Amino acid sequence: MISTLGFFGAGDLTPTICTLVRRIREHVSGSKDQGIEPPWSPKSNGLRGSRNRFIGIIREVCHGFDTTLLRTQANDASYMIPAIHILNGPNLDLLGQREPDVYGSVTLMDIETSCRAAAAELGVALVFRQTAHEGTLIEWIHTAGDAGAGVILNAGAYTHTSIALHDAIRATRVCVIEVHVSNVFQRESFRHMSYISPVAVGLICGLGPSGYEWALHAMARLLRQKEM
Ligand code: DQA
Repeated sequence: MISTLGFFGAGDLTPTICTLVRRIREHVSGSKDQGIEPPWSPKSNGLRGSRNRFIGIIREVCHGFDTTLLRTQANDASYMIPAIHILNGPNLDLLGQREPDVYGSVTLMDIETSCRAAAAELGVALVFRQTAHEGTLIEWIHTAGDAGAGVILNAGAYTHTSIALHDAIRATRVCVIEVHVSNVFQRESFRHMSYISPVAVGLICGLGPSGYEWALHAMARLLRQKEM
């Protein structure tokens, strides 16, 4: 299927692709799909990007289903890196309105939009989530670990308090990059301590919302190296 779709060139193929993607999802899940939103930005002019980007889109919409069929039909193994999960903790849904002098005016939805565009360019399936609940974050870490996915984690204040999150990362051995919008080391001393850093491969903080995109690029590279 992917190699057939790979022949499409420029132009607005959005309706065609949506239909095809719905069929793939129905096929893979075995049930009727209710319909989908185009997984790319309307501004990006359909599928004018590379084949890499296109496969990223297909993998994104198929996320959560068994995509063995798609994987075996894609003949270039370099596209087949695991998904990346961007997980956000408490109060990050308030970005844009929360302490703008510290966090700026960009919302979490803006961050998600730019990360989705970057992930599509990288040919990587992306899961983007936010919760105020520690237990939910822990379950999402387990899910990502089971799937062999990479995790970009902004655990918010749980960074400084949660031994349970530390243990979840350690137990699942999931590959984590810790992200903070603000430079926590220039702030109150209670923010200098992180339970995530000792079990993360790396830390990006103080670069504002673009820290998420830097982390996405770094994680894609790490996962590609691991797959080789
Ligand atoms: C934060 C920093 C944390 O100390 C704080 O509790 C947050 C946001 C950041 O992104 O800068 O909620 O993780």
